[in-house]
Amino acid sequence: MRLIIIGPMASGKSTVGRRLSNRLNLKFIDIDKEIEKSAGVSISWIFDVEGEERFREREVKELAKSINNNNCVISTGGGAILSKENREVLKKGTVIYLETSIQTQLERTINDKKRPLLQNSNNREQTLRELKKIRDPLFEECANITIKEGKNSHNDVVEEIINQLDFK
Ligand code: S3P
Repeated sequence: MRLIIIGPMASGKSTVGRRLSNRLNLKFIDIDKEIEKSAGVSISWIFDVEGEERFREREVKELAKSINNNNCVISTGGGAILSKENREVLKKGTVIYLETSIQTQLERTINDKKRPLLQNSNNREQTLRELKKIRDPLFEECANITIKEGKNSHNDVVEEIINQLDFK
């Protein structure tokens, strides 16, 4: 089984992915963490010094590498669906989309200091709306399972994913 979590920034991909992997006894791979590990520097550093384009190349490389694992949960970064190459790779797993409102993203990122796309913005709401417009159709196109936002805790989201997976 290969489960891949997609969704916008602050949709809970890393937390939900880790808990889901524990629950199902699967290996957990966080693409942002893998990028930082192989680069030896933070994502902010990569954006600042190398630029977004180079970050996206690193993202393609790490996702392609991660897909060679079986029995794993892979959490992606919010922009992973932008590249056609990545969208092809996503087809090798069951893709779970964590739908998330702008309001929730804003609340969860109020003290964020690690996401370059927000750090470099002087209007976070507008930035998030612009990203949403471009990315939502891609999230929808890639998703096999969509988890709608409710008042759910991350644990409720994990349980809902498990309910929707087909174990037959
Ligand atoms: C990005 C989202 C981040 C990280 C990078 C770019 C994006 O991951 O990959 O800052 O383009 O939305 P999260 O979705 O985990 O915040």
